[in-house]
Amino acid sequence: MDAFRIEGGSPLSGDITVGGAKNACLPIFAACLLTEETCVIENVPDLSDVRFMAELIEHLGADVKQAGPNKWAITAKNISSKAPYDLVRKMRASVCLMGPLIARLRYAEISIPGGCVIGQRPIDLHLRGLSKLGCEVEVKNGYVYLDARSNLHGNHVFLGGRYGSTVTGTANILMAATLTPGITRIDSAACEPEIVDLCNMLVKMGAKIDGIGSHSLTIEGVDKLNGCTHHVIGDRIEAGTYIVAGLFPGNQITIRGADPSHLSAFIHSLEEADIKIDSDNNIHVTGHAWRIKSKEIITLPYPGFPTDLQAQMATLLAVTPGISIITERIYPHRFMHVSELQRMGAHISIEGSSAIIVGQESLSGAPVMASDLRASAALVLAGLVAQGETIVQRIYHIDRGYESIDAKLNALGAKIERLSSEELPLKLAS
Ligand code: EPU
Repeated sequence: MDAFRIEGGSPLSGDITVGGAKNACLPIFAACLLTEETCVIENVPDLSDVRFMAELIEHLGADVKQAGPNKWAITAKNISSKAPYDLVRKMRASVCLMGPLIARLRYAEISIPGGCVIGQRPIDLHLRGLSKLGCEVEVKNGYVYLDARSNLHGNHVFLGGRYGSTVTGTANILMAATLTPGITRIDSAACEPEIVDLCNMLVKMGAKIDGIGSHSLTIEGVDKLNGCTHHVIGDRIEAGTYIVAGLFPGNQITIRGADPSHLSAFIHSLEEADIKIDSDNNIHVTGHAWRIKSKEIITLPYPGFPTDLQAQMATLLAVTPGISIITERIYPHRFMHVSELQRMGAHISIEGSSAIIVGQESLSGAPVMASDLRASAALVLAGLVAQGETIVQRIYHIDRGYESIDAKLNALGAKIERLSSEELPLKLAS
């Protein structure tokens, strides 16, 4: 397994461009199954999760081609209904195939994804929503069997759960409803920018959706959808990660390709920081160590502070004077990065679903282990700001959601070397 060797403390300056949003792209690829016609998707990030999704929809019968850099053409003329465990287990977002398969075939067999280190990730709300649309739902032998052949109809679906709404659950019900006879109203729908992007693509395909961007979506089912060309929005979480890098002392970077309005809660939480947005939506960040104040942060569904930036914020607050508290409201146990940050000298303790962070002057490089995508990003950030050498192992996690993060940060002046599994033991021993 590859690793990153990071030499900390190099000043970062210059421009960095974020790719298309992974979490928009995955349901958008699934949405291509809703039509027999070709969909051309642009601004697709080159990520292992995107390749998993491409492999899955190809397995279902779609013709999936890379039509240029960051551009894919997907034609799903004839598709089948079974998404097997071997493919689904690689990526939880495979669950958002349920909606398109029900819409198109009225039947689906999808393996239930396995456990996830960031916490429990049930799909009860997805299944409840689909059953409201008339699906018979059976869970057996690790699969969920959905059958709506005799009765698929619009209905009122409430997607509110214990932790707010559900992002991929909203994507599923929305996609199913586009080809479901009658009117479907989804209340407590997720309104993340990635859901808005999906809605915008569905509208281009001929779907009738009202309330886009709100917590209440009304969908009037149509008989057929058409192909379209769609440009995926920039990745707000990748942008937020680079904002944190820019805030480390001595750095000055400009982040292009994201919509800063998608990061309002995150940027607002850093209001004392030197973050400026220009008229082209570029984000200019200058690091002044003494400016950032300790904080109290609570992760919430959009437009609240995103859970997917919680780990990166923990790294920033680990080197911010004062005591900060981060409370996780989406995944109460999503703190795997903490023990690794502690190995680098961070003073963080966990109390229930909160991390209490006592800011230190600096961190020190160490060998650390990535446990999931955003935890890996937090460790790469820690490696950039730490004194000395950090080796981040299991970086396949980061390759799932950050396109060429090493090359992008190195272009700003970072010193990140990608080590192969053969090189790693030598570096760790030296
Ligand atoms: N939940 C339920 N029942 C359900 C569905 C969700 O109780 O049926 C709970 C979850 O356990 C969680 C909360 O509701 O506590 C929110 O889960 P949600 O369904 O919204 O998460 P998701 O759709 O599985 C997406 C992103 C995640 C991101 C979350 C929250 C994609 C592909 N994934 O997951 O992204 O953390 O929304 O914003 O869109 C990441 O990119 O690193 C990542 C994990």
